[in-house]
Amino acid sequence: MYRAASQPWDQRRCLVGQSSTKVTVATAEVGLSLPKGTTVISESMEGALSEQLNHEFYSAYLYLAMSAYCSHNNFNGAAQWHQLQFEEEHQHATKIYDYLMDQGVHVQLLPIPAPPSEFGSILEVFEASLAHEQDMTGRLNELSDQALKEKDHATYNLLQWFVNEQVEEEASVGGIIAKLKLVKDDGYGLLMIDNELGSRPASPAA
Ligand SMILES: [Fe+2]
Ligand SMILES: [Fe+2]
Repeated sequence: MYRAASQPWDQRRCLVGQSSTKVTVATAEVGLSLPKGTTVISESMEGALSEQLNHEFYSAYLYLAMSAYCSHNNFNGAAQWHQLQFEEEHQHATKIYDYLMDQGVHVQLLPIPAPPSEFGSILEVFEASLAHEQDMTGRLNELSDQALKEKDHATYNLLQWFVNEQVEEEASVGGIIAKLKLVKDDGYGLLMIDNELGSRPASPAA
């Protein structure tokens, strides 16, 4: 049975080194967080994860802007698809936020830049999505490299969830781009794709 609340801090640090996931899950399950001002992760990792948290919020903001563009241009299926994407990115941000809280970090939120609101065409929307996801993959790979270098196994485990998620995201957007390129400006083809996008099921909580 996990008894984090009664364990001396040094023992908890030791547990994180040996089996970090157990500690993170256990603290989340029993609603515990580390004492304020006491962190396991390095200051540099804390800063890098805070930036990633901001990028995930920017992703959510970007997808909401894309949803608005699609809706305004009567691509209601694509608008719904991006709405779900917005919700997913919000979950990603929350996942990092919760992790930082579990690590005893005093999270300080950074400003979120305004996303673009004009995209030219539905194809351009998805091409911008793919470019954005590729950029995010690069950032998550760099963060994983840093975690490995610092022997920060807890953070590395967290990041691998994100790295795997990126593979799925890039494949999904790449598939949509391929279909859009196939139909080009054919109205019937675009309507078919839009209908298909609108039937995307909501993803389970991250
Ligand atoms: Fe994300
Ligand atoms: Fe994403």
